[in-house]
Amino acid sequence: MATDASAGQIVAVFTAFVCVALLLLVASRRRRRPSREDDEEEGAGRGVLVTGCDSGFGHHLALQLDARGFAVFAGCLFPEGRGALTLAQEGSCRLRVLKLDVTSDKDVEEAKRVVQINLPENGLWAVVNNAGISDWAETEWSNINHYTKMVEVNLFGAIRTTIAFLPLVRVAKGRMVFMSSIFAFFHCLNMGAYSVSKRGLEAFADCLRVEMASFGVKVSIVQPGNFGRATNIVKTKKSWNTWDNLNPEQKLVFSREYMELANAYFNTVTGAGFTEVSMVVDALLHAVSSPRPQYRYLLASRLDSLFFSWYPLLPTAVSDGIFALSPMYARRRKMLYSKQ
Ligand SMILES: NC(=O)c1ccc[n+]([C@@H]2O[C@H](COP(=O)([O-])OP(=O)(O)OC[C@H]3O[C@@H](n4cnc5c(N)ncnc54)[C@H](OP(=O)(O)O)[C@@H]3O)[C@@H](O)[C@H]2O)c1
Repeated sequence: MATDASAGQIVAVFTAFVCVALLLLVASRRRRRPSREDDEEEGAGRGVLVTGCDSGFGHHLALQLDARGFAVFAGCLFPEGRGALTLAQEGSCRLRVLKLDVTSDKDVEEAKRVVQINLPENGLWAVVNNAGISDWAETEWSNINHYTKMVEVNLFGAIRTTIAFLPLVRVAKGRMVFMSSIFAFFHCLNMGAYSVSKRGLEAFADCLRVEMASFGVKVSIVQPGNFGRATNIVKTKKSWNTWDNLNPEQKLVFSREYMELANAYFNTVTGAGFTEVSMVVDALLHAVSSPRPQYRYLLASRLDSLFFSWYPLLPTAVSDGIFALSPMYARRRKMLYSKQ
């Protein structure tokens, strides 16, 4: 009996050791930050299309790619807007602003025509599917339009752009880069529509990577955490506007006070994010220009990266249970059905 017990203990300790070693390996691989020294591909003579360059990550990326000698095609929703004008002023003569609403077949076709006419000598090297929108709402306050709009831009916009430009990137044996988010795998209150769009985007990118491997095209997924203060993605909402739009039945479930709490919580969380874009832009540059781009770039603080590396590996009961520990979740439960 004593021998059985000690053999069992040895197996248990060994199994635990192997599990921890594996998890640490996974975590360290996912947390590896790209370094600029890895960047070796020459920009000269190579075209890169970036969508969503009016502001945020796309805007900064377009300028940095231009500074590295790439011929940048900067897709802007508003080609006469401030962001597009800044690109035209600050960029070199290689940087070309295109009108590109990724939800429009016509815009994508026209953008492709312009890119083909102006292809640099080494063709279209990369497409960075960056354009995106974000919003938050509980599922019961949402309607189907909320989901459709999110998916039209974040998912179908990227798919439409990819299908149009993939033949050019295939010829160049280049790169397809997809701007996802931690919300592709981290599920929490209020982010349903955004998560659907980003999880769908990753499914698309993962399948594309498998198909494109035989053509020499590399596919990368970028997963930023909270950079809400560094870009224009967060649109401030008024809690009473959201509440006024609820029907009487919904108002009985979600009180105005709860709506205010949810709004304040959202503002606090986004207010705690990174204030500048360099971590994300460096990862995008790495995905475009390194000879060894990563499959995934998880971009968050070191502590958050550790948490997010483990999170997808947790059993659902454990990952759901983490939310039960959050004070916000507990307060919400007390406030539902107009309870205070
Ligand atoms: N910031 C974060 O914390 C964060 C975290 C994870 C992932 N992301 C992702 O990063 C990407 C870039 O966002 P960002 O944070 O840089 O925010 P941003 O400053 O709002 O940039 C998004 C860009 O996409 C453009 N856009 C919106 N709808 C479009 C459409 N239909 N066609 C083409 N362009 C469109 C926006 O144009 P307008 O400015 O004219 O609306 C804007 O230029 C998004 O895919 C977002 O989901 C951001």
